[in-house]
Amino acid sequence: MTAIRNQTATTSLDVEGLRADFPILHQQVNGHRLAYLDSAASSQRPRAVIDAITHYYEHDHANVHRGVHTLSHRATDAYEGAREKVRSFLNAASTKEIVFTRGTTEAINLVANSLGASLRSGDEIVLTELEHHANIVPWQMLAERTGVELRVIPINDAGELILDDYPDMLNSRTRLVSVAQVSNALGTINPLDRILRPARDRGILTLVDGAQAIPHMPVDVRALDCDFYAFSGHKMCGPTGIGALYAREAVLSELPPWQGGGDMILTVSFSGTTYNELPYRFEAGTPNIAGAAGLGAAIDYLDNIGMAAIENYEAELLAYATEAMAAVQDVQLIGTAEQKAGVLSFNLDAIHAHDLGTILDHQGVAIRTGHHCAMPVMEHFGIAGTARASLAFYNTRADIDQLIEALQVAREMLR
Ligand SMILES: Cc1ncc(COP(=O)(O)O)c(C=O)c1O
Repeated sequence: MTAIRNQTATTSLDVEGLRADFPILHQQVNGHRLAYLDSAASSQRPRAVIDAITHYYEHDHANVHRGVHTLSHRATDAYEGAREKVRSFLNAASTKEIVFTRGTTEAINLVANSLGASLRSGDEIVLTELEHHANIVPWQMLAERTGVELRVIPINDAGELILDDYPDMLNSRTRLVSVAQVSNALGTINPLDRILRPARDRGILTLVDGAQAIPHMPVDVRALDCDFYAFSGHKMCGPTGIGALYAREAVLSELPPWQGGGDMILTVSFSGTTYNELPYRFEAGTPNIAGAAGLGAAIDYLDNIGMAAIENYEAELLAYATEAMAAVQDVQLIGTAEQKAGVLSFNLDAIHAHDLGTILDHQGVAIRTGHHCAMPVMEHFGIAGTARASLAFYNTRADIDQLIEALQVAREMLR
């Protein structure tokens, strides 16, 4: 691998320039250059995002929406300004369709609770075998409460959805199809057009878990024509504890709120309470204002690079990494779909993934090991877990080369 070390990928992205924006990347870990390959779990933040949060707290912080004083107006502007940035980033029609949440998990739980309130025993929800637990467990909890039934689209051994029987799964009892755009465990990009359109044609609601898609490719909710789209800020260079649910206005306006409290009401009396307009009806309590300001800055940062440029660069880097990995003796790649983004899951012979992760960490390589909150995927492959290297636009071939060399060291140590 040494021969290709430090070659830059053939791309127009100035990755070294972008890396300079990320203070955290420029450090030694365990005496080695840091190769951060765990962005699917959480990405790193550029200086612009860190500065936006600091600026907010140093100059603008107060509570939002009800204040008459200047700081409250500024905080409201930061918060609502971020909502407009999310709207624009997703190409949603209106900011009424953007509900801030703690992240993807909370966004899906919101739908499971609010939509779930009208579901009945015998209604059906369609999921897939490659979902993150965040898009499984809320529906199982709903099933326990209401008796709704879950139907699961299976995957093949490449980690691709088997859609042959999917149209027949949809029937008059199907209320929702909820599917990841990109698998966090395998990197598979699902063919959303083949999943969403048949549902839409039958008047069935659709939810897209965009947690692993939004950091890697342009997303247009109107082009997707989905009813819900959930994502997390921390996977796209934003802060933790903030994300959003896009919900089509016509659908959201029919849903009841799921959490009660301040900000989600118009009037409260012991004789009855009236709820606020969209999207505030779904945002009870003081929100994560600094998080929203940081997310807004992350969106500006990504927009400035261009999501299409990011997508192209990462596709090239993933191809390079896949080829390099295939050349390492005893490595088994888990997830070999035709269409993939951002993720290389693998095992090295019979070495326990945690041991592998620890040895790589000693060489400055940060990867994730385990079931990746996708235990049904692990069950499909008959394994307890994988080692997962995941990419972002700030990764380079040098990171991949360091991973490969560290893997060779692990092989030598453990065989
Ligand atoms: C596909 C997918 N969905 C949902 C989630 C949950 O995201 P969060 O923990 O930010 O709510 C993740 C996190 O890894 C994910 O990869």
